[in-house]
Amino acid sequence: MQISAKILDAVKQSTQCLVVACFEGGKLSAAASAINAADAKQLETLLKREKFDGKVGQSLLLLNPQGIAAERLLIIGFGAPNKGEQQGSVSSDNFRKALQKIPDALKATHCSDLSIILGDINVSDKDAEWQARQAVEILIASQHRADSLKSKPAEPSFVLKKVTLGFTKATSASATKGIAIGQAIANGVNLARELGNLPGNVCTPTYLASEAKRLARGQTRLSVKVLEEKEMKELGMGSLLSVSAGSDQPAKLIVLEYKGGNKKEAPIALVGKGITFDTGGISLKPGAGMDEMKYDMCGAASVLGTFKTLIELQPAINVVGVIAASENMPNGSATKPGDIVTSMSGQTIEVLNTDAEGRLVLCDALTYTERFKPKAVIDIATLTGACVVALGNHASGLFSNNEALAQAILAAGQTANDRAWQMPLWDDYQKQLDSNFADIANIGGPAGGSITAACFLSRFTKNFAWAHLDIAGTAWLSGAAKGATGRPVPLLVQYLLNNQ
Ligand code: BES
Ligand code: MN
Ligand code: ZN
Repeated sequence: MQISAKILDAVKQSTQCLVVACFEGGKLSAAASAINAADAKQLETLLKREKFDGKVGQSLLLLNPQGIAAERLLIIGFGAPNKGEQQGSVSSDNFRKALQKIPDALKATHCSDLSIILGDINVSDKDAEWQARQAVEILIASQHRADSLKSKPAEPSFVLKKVTLGFTKATSASATKGIAIGQAIANGVNLARELGNLPGNVCTPTYLASEAKRLARGQTRLSVKVLEEKEMKELGMGSLLSVSAGSDQPAKLIVLEYKGGNKKEAPIALVGKGITFDTGGISLKPGAGMDEMKYDMCGAASVLGTFKTLIELQPAINVVGVIAASENMPNGSATKPGDIVTSMSGQTIEVLNTDAEGRLVLCDALTYTERFKPKAVIDIATLTGACVVALGNHASGLFSNNEALAQAILAAGQTANDRAWQMPLWDDYQKQLDSNFADIANIGGPAGGSITAACFLSRFTKNFAWAHLDIAGTAWLSGAAKGATGRPVPLLVQYLLNNQ
């Protein structure tokens, strides 16, 4: 898809579809007014007839509009302009909701070339760069299809080839920058979605490792190293290996290093849970809905997606990625409830439930990450069903031992429209992890399940500023819209870019 920012004339622009805004109360944007004037106020009459009053999410598609060069005209409602301080501006939420209506309205058309006038819409607290970026992310996401494994994928009608965003002389340079960022983020999100949607028989730990190597091919700033089980054993990763013990697929520890910044600058580390299928192990999960445990590698996928965005944008920062990839299966060599394993940190762990495996692979990956002397470490994991109960599908759970880091991640999530919500990591919860026989148990009982999971990880992250994102509710959707979302790639990229 070719995307650019230009100064557009709404009346003269020849395009398969021109998109213009209308605000609540039927107030026309500058572009819509120009079209109305060029057509003896036909547009106004039409909008009245259809009772289109500019509420957010309303849309009206006119085929063969008169008085303008475009083949189609799409009018989108952007809602109420702000009456307070930022007069005439719409909220960022309404802006996104309205843009989402563009692919919805054009789904059934054969429109491949789109021109959208955005330069006459003000969004509260947001600039043209942000506006362009949101438009690009939404449009590219609308083109994503999860049919790579269908023998005869359906032919979609709405396939975008060219998008032109209309801005002003003052804003088009900033919009052009936003387009580049939006494209890179959307490509990272798409990679995370594709990997997430792949079934467990395709996307194994070995597959994830080769995907990481593929990303690094031909890249000067990105290198990838894969540690095999033998090397993990030598490092003492008894906890991680206790998870792969029950599987015929070998575990992999995938290490990515992006070096865009000063050599002496400490890196930021991203640590991803990459359980390519979670049966629960000997503590077997119930059958209903178990297929969704193919998504238990979405943390890993978000790390790979973020690195894809990094190599496209080439920011001047250093970033390390560590992916703990394994299956969680119940064969004859599988770890049993009550087994005690020794982690790389030296702490012993009583595995009371083999289904709490994410923390078992992450703790060794986190200890391994210490060698990079990172300035901050963020782990990303589909860690607990309890997090879905607490926060649903809208916010990722955030836990941190460093308040400044937590605030920076929350702010990045706001900007990127990929929000997290902070949960407590108080010492009060730690005693739920006491074990009679080992240093720590791997489960903390039914109360506060996402918090005790984070508490478990906190025992392995004392030597650095650390945050944990529980993405069990946000990484994929169930039901009719079943599929990976690519979250939290936008949040992670935003956090990294803010650290440039
Ligand atoms: N991958 C799951 C968490 C999960 C469950 C994510 C459902 C999304 C939806 C994780 O490995 C797991 O099984 N966690 C257990 C922990 C429990 C045994 C303490 C859980 O959440 O039930
Ligand atoms: Mn599990
Ligand atoms: Zn799991």
